[in-house]
Amino acid sequence: MTTVLKRWGVCALAVLLTACGQDTDQRLQETIERQEIAAKPSVDLPIPAADEPLAELGRALFFSPHLSGGGDVACVSCHHPFRGGDEDLSLAVGINAEDPLLFGHRRKLDESKMVGDNMGHKGMATMPRNVPTDFASTYYQKALFWDGRVRFDEVQGNSQVVTPDSLFDTPDHRVIEGDLLFAQTRFPVTNPDEMLGFETPYANTDGVRLAIEARMRSVQNEAGEGVWLPAFQRGLQEPDADESIISFFNISKAITAYIRSKDFIDTPWARYVEGDKEALNQRQKRGAALFFQAKGDGQSCASCHRPPFFSDERYYNLAVPQIGPGMDKLDADYGRKRVTRNNADQFRFRTPSLLNVEHTAPYMHNGAYETLFDTVWHHIHPEKSIEQYDFTLQHLLQFEGRDVSKDYPHMKANTEFALNKARENGLPELDYTREEVELIVSFLEALTDPCIESEQCMSAWMPTDAEIKQLKLLDMRLSSPEGRPQSERLFQ
Ligand code: HEC
Ligand code: HEC
Repeated sequence: MTTVLKRWGVCALAVLLTACGQDTDQRLQETIERQEIAAKPSVDLPIPAADEPLAELGRALFFSPHLSGGGDVACVSCHHPFRGGDEDLSLAVGINAEDPLLFGHRRKLDESKMVGDNMGHKGMATMPRNVPTDFASTYYQKALFWDGRVRFDEVQGNSQVVTPDSLFDTPDHRVIEGDLLFAQTRFPVTNPDEMLGFETPYANTDGVRLAIEARMRSVQNEAGEGVWLPAFQRGLQEPDADESIISFFNISKAITAYIRSKDFIDTPWARYVEGDKEALNQRQKRGAALFFQAKGDGQSCASCHRPPFFSDERYYNLAVPQIGPGMDKLDADYGRKRVTRNNADQFRFRTPSLLNVEHTAPYMHNGAYETLFDTVWHHIHPEKSIEQYDFTLQHLLQFEGRDVSKDYPHMKANTEFALNKARENGLPELDYTREEVELIVSFLEALTDPCIESEQCMSAWMPTDAEIKQLKLLDMRLSSPEGRPQSERLFQ
């Protein structure tokens, strides 16, 4: 009797689920068709494979500490292939790390190395912002950085690029036209808190880049031979070139190719849009329907996180708790206003893409939230989230055990300021229950390219043993020869 009942129960449940599943599939299909949602983002630039010579040269450069002033930071220090293309800290730690070979949340600032008054950083971070992933960053087609300061020329509306090196917002003629990412790679090395350090003064950013060219040409092996020349000759396929091939222009070209090869967009969601109805589970499907469909007259997530890249590349003030040293007066971060000088843009930040977002915690421009749930919840109830926000920052790994009230005394006042400003301009109108947010978070987990969760798959973006030795790269592999602790979360 009981078995019969049980069987009947399971069957009824199955029928219900199937019916309900078909219904969600149908609704989603209609949305996909109506909103003409493409499976994957696309761009008019060639996407190189990881093993193309130029991308391989870029990989080595991405791990090279010789691009930094103190010889202790590389791009990979903050954008690690094993950490979803960033690190696990709210705010980035560049120069003066306790142990420069540690990445993820184990990377810590050594405050005793901070000297002089000109050190821009305060507290446990050297930079005022959270590291965005470099994965799939090719698909930003308007601007890079949280405030969009590397951007296409909006005044002329052409494909020339305006950068922080530009005079009076005119195009920067030292960068390749039409290539934002190329332009971006010129800047981390010129930022004192990020890679440059404060040891040597330079007249301007080009002075820094010239010094880097000279340094790269002078890195030698035990036999006194320059190590980078053969790598550049191979990467650029110019076997007879002399050392002038080691130029900052070529450094940027190679790093751009490497970043572009990290094209992680093959997600379960993309497969679902392409017709594989099994690619998502039931919760993810229900989450997707909520993500794309507004209730009543309100907005949906997709209003701003527009598929298939899940960003509209516009700027909004969500009144995110203002934590950290900021970039402006009294620890505030004015975001987009820094670029446009327009008051209406104060505290606005670029909508980030949500591809691979599951593995890029903490979230928001300053890493104010550790979990996806809290991040999404803040969008819906900013006032309540701020009211309940723990300004001792003990929910953030980076600040555990630290009294941040002395480091950043203006956090609450700045947050109030940002909230008032947001009220003036209108906060997003989103209406989702807690249960619905949980479903949406399940959907966000379907935006992960499975390659980035596999150490083996990611090994194509890691330098080889020989490269690390010959080119004197930072050995930031999972477990280095000295038996450094394994990083957690992504690979167990
Ligand atoms: C100390 C940590 C650190 C290092 C080292 C570093 N970055 Fe970044 N990177 C950041 C932070 C923080 C941002 C965001 C800054 C902002 O928006 O103001 C960023 C932004 C970016 C972006 C823009 C992504 C987007 O979504 O707009 C790219 C691309 C990038 N970095 C590539 C590089 C490259 C290439 C290097 C090496 C030459 C490098 N980074 C070195 C911390 C770092
Ligand atoms: C009005 C535009 C807008 C809407 C609507 C919107 N977002 Fe956002 N979202 C943003 C902006 C802007 C940020 C970055 C804000 C900041 O850092 O100050 C952001 C940040 C995020 C982040 C953090 C990503 C990261 O890499 O740090 C997640 C996750 C996110 N949004 C998910 C959602 C979800 C889910 C919804 C629907 C419930 C939603 N968003 C609705 C504009 C929007």
